[in-house]
Amino acid sequence: MARFAHLLVLVSFVLASGAAAAAAGGAHRRERSSARLHLERAAPGATMAERAADDRFRHAYINAKLAAASSSSARRRAAETSPAESSAFAMPLTSGAYTGTGQYFVRLRVGTPAQPFVLVADTGSDLTWVKCSSPSSSSSSPAASPPQRVFRPAGSKSWSPLPCDSDTCKSYVPFSLANCSSPPDPCSYDYRYKDNSSARGVVGLDSATVSLSGNDGTRKAKLQEVVLGCTTSYDGQSFKSSDGVLSLGNSNISFASRAASRFGGRFSYCLVDHLAPRNATSFLTFGNGDSSPGDDSSSRRTPLVLLEDARTRPFYFVSVDAVTVAGERLEILPDVWDFRKNGGAILDSGTSLTILATPAYDAVVKAISKQFAGVPRVNMDPFEYCYNWTGVSAEIPRMELRFAGAATLAPPGKSYVIDTAPGVKCIGVVEGAWPGVSVIGNILQQEHLWEFDLANRWLRFKQSRCAH
Ligand SMILES: *[C@@H]1O[C@H](CO)[C@@H](O)[C@H](O)[C@H]1NC(C)=O
Ligand SMILES: *[C@@H]1O[C@H](CO)[C@@H](O)[C@H](O)[C@H]1NC(C)=O
Ligand SMILES: *[C@@H]1O[C@H](CO)[C@@H](O)[C@H](O)[C@H]1NC(C)=O
Ligand SMILES: *[C@@H]1O[C@H](CO)[C@@H](O)[C@H](O)[C@H]1NC(C)=O
Ligand SMILES: *[C@@H]1O[C@H](CO)[C@@H](O)[C@H](O)[C@H]1NC(C)=O
Repeated sequence: MARFAHLLVLVSFVLASGAAAAAAGGAHRRERSSARLHLERAAPGATMAERAADDRFRHAYINAKLAAASSSSARRRAAETSPAESSAFAMPLTSGAYTGTGQYFVRLRVGTPAQPFVLVADTGSDLTWVKCSSPSSSSSSPAASPPQRVFRPAGSKSWSPLPCDSDTCKSYVPFSLANCSSPPDPCSYDYRYKDNSSARGVVGLDSATVSLSGNDGTRKAKLQEVVLGCTTSYDGQSFKSSDGVLSLGNSNISFASRAASRFGGRFSYCLVDHLAPRNATSFLTFGNGDSSPGDDSSSRRTPLVLLEDARTRPFYFVSVDAVTVAGERLEILPDVWDFRKNGGAILDSGTSLTILATPAYDAVVKAISKQFAGVPRVNMDPFEYCYNWTGVSAEIPRMELRFAGAATLAPPGKSYVIDTAPGVKCIGVVEGAWPGVSVIGNILQQEHLWEFDLANRWLRFKQSRCAH
């Protein structure tokens, strides 16, 4: 505990452009500074059927992880009353699905000297990790595969391995191997992903270098002692196109919490339309960006439901009060939006399509499809309601999600009645099992700036074109 709290305040700040920038600054500059990274769509051309298949893996992972967290916190409570059991609980070995279509990549440099990596930016993840050279890969035939970016801990002056008996390893590293037979052993993990991919490695601390925004990108900040997994072996399809994962989840060890502790306690992202040209940029900002929703009267805010007892970690739950379509409030069982009743809704960067638990799904598609009664239906995977929109002048009804705190999200019609093929539009939500969590996917989030104020536990959002 004490060790990790101590790490959080150890932040160093490197100004690449030196004295001129420092002279212009002082305390004021320090407060305003933010770091901005570009987000790239992992598979811009992916079909909706491919996205839906990946979203299903991811949804299974989210539900499994929530179930595991609540049963392990129940076990922990039980263990407090019967100490004999406390050393013996096994965490399930599952983690996020990164098959790639729904995700965004981000470039980050880690280590000293800094080495660049392409990582999946993931609000559903707590451990940041990169592929590492493994003893077996160095001896395998060099002709077998193209050169890969791998992190070499031995080549980084700032790398320090985390022992398996450290508080950080025991309390926060998800799915860490319970076996710590010799305390100086490294903290290790073994993830099994829902698509049968896996990743194994050891956890350490190292630095990460980010560019500061508001300049020409030459000023850089170095975050020290970021918790970093070094994946020494992996299998499966999940990690073909990326070098690892950048964790943006609600967790003490996530990159988001580490970077937010340096940059104003918050991070934000803005996603351009999923059909926008490839060069249109989405971005991820740590700190108060120039366009921070916090500074703007047009922004809305709702509490982030972050429970103390880890049951919601690493996900970001929000409280949905109501859904309206064409001004009518839909009749939806309130339990669907209640985390404590095995429902609840999360905002997720790594899910494409919005997944609604059956009672909400039924109400939403019924209300929207009613407005399209005269439009010819067509079949198109993965959606239930698709329409031949050729020559159709039907209007897309306004759908609103009302969050606690009178914060209303009114996404553009194209975010939930989606262009699926030339001349075809579909009601772009998919059904999730009830009971189960609902997920606000990244297509419904597009063209909004979302700010996760971790210090004050607010989610703020406002419409935006995401053009800086
Ligand atoms: C971990 O995070 C929780 C809040 O999410 C905080 O109360 C706690 O102090 C943190 N622990 C450490 C060791 O930083
Ligand atoms: C723990 O690890 C040691 C050394 O790797 C091994 O000999 C032992 O069997 C393991 N114990 C368990 C319970 O897995
Ligand atoms: C993963 O492996 C299990 C057992 O071998 C198999 O039943 C399942 O279909 C596999 N899943 C995928 C997505 O390949
Ligand atoms: C993206 O590329 C197109 C041409 O391919 C160009 O017309 C457009 O200006 C570019 N947009 C940006 C934001 O660079
Ligand atoms: C939509 O309808 C038009 C005729 O109005 C037809 O030519 C076209 O093939 C249809 N498209 C689909 C996808 O069914």
